[in-house]
Amino acid sequence: MRNYLKAFKRAAAVGAVALAVFSLQPGSAQAAQDRDPGARPSPGVVGGTRAQQGEFPWMVRLSMGCGGALYTKQIVLTAAHCVNGSGANTSITATAGVADLNSSSAIKVKSTRVLQAPGYDGQGKDWALIKLAKPIDLPTLKIADTAAYNSGTFTIAGWGADREGGSQQRYLLKATVPFVDDATCKGAYGNLVDAEEICAGYLQQGGVDTCQGDSGGPMFRKDNAGAWIQVGIVSWGQGCARPGYPGVYSEVSTFAADISSAAASLGG
Ligand code: ARG
Repeated sequence: MRNYLKAFKRAAAVGAVALAVFSLQPGSAQAAQDRDPGARPSPGVVGGTRAQQGEFPWMVRLSMGCGGALYTKQIVLTAAHCVNGSGANTSITATAGVADLNSSSAIKVKSTRVLQAPGYDGQGKDWALIKLAKPIDLPTLKIADTAAYNSGTFTIAGWGADREGGSQQRYLLKATVPFVDDATCKGAYGNLVDAEEICAGYLQQGGVDTCQGDSGGPMFRKDNAGAWIQVGIVSWGQGCARPGYPGVYSEVSTFAADISSAAASLGG
């Protein structure tokens, strides 16, 4: 399972289209999908609606088919499984400043370096930083550095598939999902890394979730001062929006200090 997941996540980083095939996974989850062949029509993330231009100004689309968020004006926080390792890397293009990826006002900046979470092995620690060639003059998204916000209702957003096996989206989609506690999430996924992963979704109904191509993007909520704060990074799930299988996100508060020092090592 461990290696399978690793391969699965790698594949996700490479191509959402190919992944659509992979994500129809073996075993009981496949059976679960077979029981519900009438896919719900959902303009979504899965089950979402279009975000307004400027609503989530720090949202970034990465050219390998992932999401991300501006952690600083020159560093994007994304998922470890979206990148191949650490070091100099000029192959990634970040698109920012637009909800519509085809907009002529899109800001496109190349990467210079990638820093994948130290010790990342395909289970947990699913975060990475991408240093950009130049700063982007847009608001950044603060990350949670305590567990205080690891509950409640979260917002998810991305240009990934709007249903399991669906295609990547031109317009940024958003939705909200409730927190699912570790014990409950472990009931669905035996291999959850409690301290490093946080789950969200409608456990009973399913229907709303992130999906392939949303990986690396933020899961966020309002803090006590009413500002957006990032609590998760889209990581994985069994299919998308299936009843009984919440989305799994990197638990940002656990890694906040590591992310901060890693960003400093990239020169902020
Ligand atoms: N690993 C996927 C990606 O690379 C994200 C999957 C999220 N799945 C979910 N059911 N929440 O885009």
